[in-house]
Amino acid sequence: AAAPAAEKEDPFEQELRKANEEMIRENHAQALRSFNTLTQHYAHEPLAHLGKARVLEILAKAERSNQRVLEAIEAYKRYLAFGELVTSDQEFTAAGNKCIEHLRFMGFLQQAVNIHELLIERLPRDTKLRNQLSFTHLMANNLRQVEKVAAETLQLWPADAVAQLHFGLALMNLHSDYAQAQPYLQYAVESQAEGTQEAYFYLSLGESLQRLSRQSEALEVYGKGVAKGFFASLYQRSLYNEPRLRAKPFWQPRETGYERQLERLQLDWRSIRDEALALLGRGGSYFADEAERLRDKGVWQQYELYAQGRQVKDNCRRTPITCNLLQQFPASAGCRRGQVKFSVMQAQTHVWPHCGPTNCRLRAHLTLVAPEPEKTSLRVAEQERTWREGELFIFDDSFEHEVWHNGSHARLVLILDMWHPDLTAAQRGSLSPI
Ligand code: LMR
Ligand code: MN
Repeated sequence: AAAPAAEKEDPFEQELRKANEEMIRENHAQALRSFNTLTQHYAHEPLAHLGKARVLEILAKAERSNQRVLEAIEAYKRYLAFGELVTSDQEFTAAGNKCIEHLRFMGFLQQAVNIHELLIERLPRDTKLRNQLSFTHLMANNLRQVEKVAAETLQLWPADAVAQLHFGLALMNLHSDYAQAQPYLQYAVESQAEGTQEAYFYLSLGESLQRLSRQSEALEVYGKGVAKGFFASLYQRSLYNEPRLRAKPFWQPRETGYERQLERLQLDWRSIRDEALALLGRGGSYFADEAERLRDKGVWQQYELYAQGRQVKDNCRRTPITCNLLQQFPASAGCRRGQVKFSVMQAQTHVWPHCGPTNCRLRAHLTLVAPEPEKTSLRVAEQERTWREGELFIFDDSFEHEVWHNGSHARLVLILDMWHPDLTAAQRGSLSPI
């Protein structure tokens, strides 16, 4: 008996199958050529664009090429633009999420928001899609949007842990409303739900408790963070860390290897002081308010000379003596994970306990004006000390620290960050700036 005539395969299907086979055989260069041809000849076929996006993202990874990432994003966008013509919700959201992942990686957060909104429009009952949107807003530090999206999600799903987490973070960082934020953060972190287990969330919950004077509960949270490997120790809670660096709250100059450079600066502390005082005398408008919501009360301002290893040129022009001295100290001026700045703290200021972002630096304070040492205090982990004019001390600001100024006259210091002495030259050259 004659076999039934095989139905002739549609030419698009046939070429698509061929291109997909090339991809499976990991012949990515050839697969890309095939998908390029497909998208040209069958521009109206969603799967041609999806296939092209997938090859491009594989190539992006293999070639470590951002250009390829951009091309993959473009191909995904063309696929997503078919909207309703793509019948599989699952395939559509998977592609959308991949596209978002690449956009986040490239820092194109507003474009990512557009894709999130496209997905939510298609699947309005999917909480995860909304939580992913508020997470992108969180990455962009767009706290108003985080608050808005999380509040909407909670209207629909009041028990959703990730939405509670994002809402709590907004209350804390936007409104400094620790009493309201704390239960949200606690519920979320204790739920252990996917999307709630990150160092930053443990840190925020702990800090909300500390700001409510619930110190022992905060330590319990930090202890859990240590157990999960999020924090180096109870007190050292920086998030951008390199392994195997010596860590302790206070350092002696000779232990750092920078003794000579530090002594040189200290020798000239009066000239440095006079430059800073001259600036303050000009109305103080050159100093900027501390902007990270670390202040409980008071006035605390800074004048930056170096940031992320680069000179702040306009500021250095006004303080040439200090900046010339610092040029002789490249491990400080060139520390891409730190700053050099004048820090002026007015009387009746309290700075909340907090940790710096990284363990890759040490922080020196050269004290310029400190008329009331007995009324000021810096606590680092469990040790306290104060400022004395002309003196210099060094601490590791990745450890929790807290500042009080209970006197009646301003305190002025030069703060210098320095590369942690245990970092190799290669690390100093390649670590991302902070
Ligand atoms: C800090 O680094 O948080 C403080 O030591 C800064 C300051 O001005 O005291
Ligand atoms: Mn600090």
